[in-house]
Amino acid sequence: MAFNIEILDDANNIDLITIYDGNSEIKFTNFGMRIVDWKVDGRSIVLGPNENDDLVQYYEENPYFFGATIGRYGGRIENGTFELNGQNYKLEQNDAKHNLHGGSNGLHSRVFDYEIINEDKIVTVIYTADMKSEDDYFPGNIQIRVTHRYDLIQMMWSIHYEAASTEDTLFNPMNHVYFNLNKTNQTIENHRIHNEIEFYPLKENQIVKSLDTVNINEEIGKEILTFRDVFESGLEQIKQFNGIDHPVKLGDESFTVSNDELEIEMKTDQDHVVIFTLNDVDWNDHDHTIQEHGGFTLETQSIPDDIHLLGDSAPSILRNGKTFSSETSYQIKTKDK
Ligand code: GAL
Repeated sequence: MAFNIEILDDANNIDLITIYDGNSEIKFTNFGMRIVDWKVDGRSIVLGPNENDDLVQYYEENPYFFGATIGRYGGRIENGTFELNGQNYKLEQNDAKHNLHGGSNGLHSRVFDYEIINEDKIVTVIYTADMKSEDDYFPGNIQIRVTHRYDLIQMMWSIHYEAASTEDTLFNPMNHVYFNLNKTNQTIENHRIHNEIEFYPLKENQIVKSLDTVNINEEIGKEILTFRDVFESGLEQIKQFNGIDHPVKLGDESFTVSNDELEIEMKTDQDHVVIFTLNDVDWNDHDHTIQEHGGFTLETQSIPDDIHLLGDSAPSILRNGKTFSSETSYQIKTKDK
């Protein structure tokens, strides 16, 4: 058997699903459709609870959305309000005046039914979700299917989102996994970023300013940046937010980050990835292992607040009668020395 299921909370149907072989192991939970852990050669490469943490309580309290599926909408919608087809919608203002990650009743907060398909070296978890307009105040009821597939041979985790809505609405999902490829509890400063970082600056309120971008590689004249280079770049936007918390334009078909031993390669059909480098830590786990710049996210999605930036042509608009479909994968490669 390449997987097992542990019941974490019987009353609430919360399970922990472990998919493993001798080389790697990945753990998912149906609570928020999360990735809980991913171990390669015995090393955890994503942030999540430790042995001394109670998993359910940990995720209820953790304010950084570790590993969670985010929806309907990843990132901030300014003032928690938007207009679509001439109608004004008011969302929950759960982050200052803004709506963040779809609000407190978003996908991250719920428990989902799932089924597992086991094809020996590939195990697939298919979650189904029903999101009602009254749950999160977006228009339309949506039916969502999120598929997490783990290929033990390729050491590749892929995510597929599919959704359809009863009315025109916004749909901009992503996974909020944080990576750190280091063996010890060091920050991500030593990680190299193999793609250019061309980002959209933010206003003081953390909302994207405009569609004018800044290219960090060009600003500091370096082809391959480390996160240390970025943090020490002196760029106003990086200083202001104590790191990266920005949507980045994707040019190539893949996006790669590495340290000396491992490499993570992301592929997606999305045009943007929000990178967040865990810039301020004011909550911790039982053993206090969460630290500033202790991980980075690769949130593949449309530009947050695209509805205000692009109006009717915002890519996050999901029209009634259309099916949303998007795929992102993360693959771990060990480096030959
Ligand atoms: C990110 C967001 C950050 C922060 C984080 C959760 O996606 O851009 O500003 O809110 O989620 O801690």
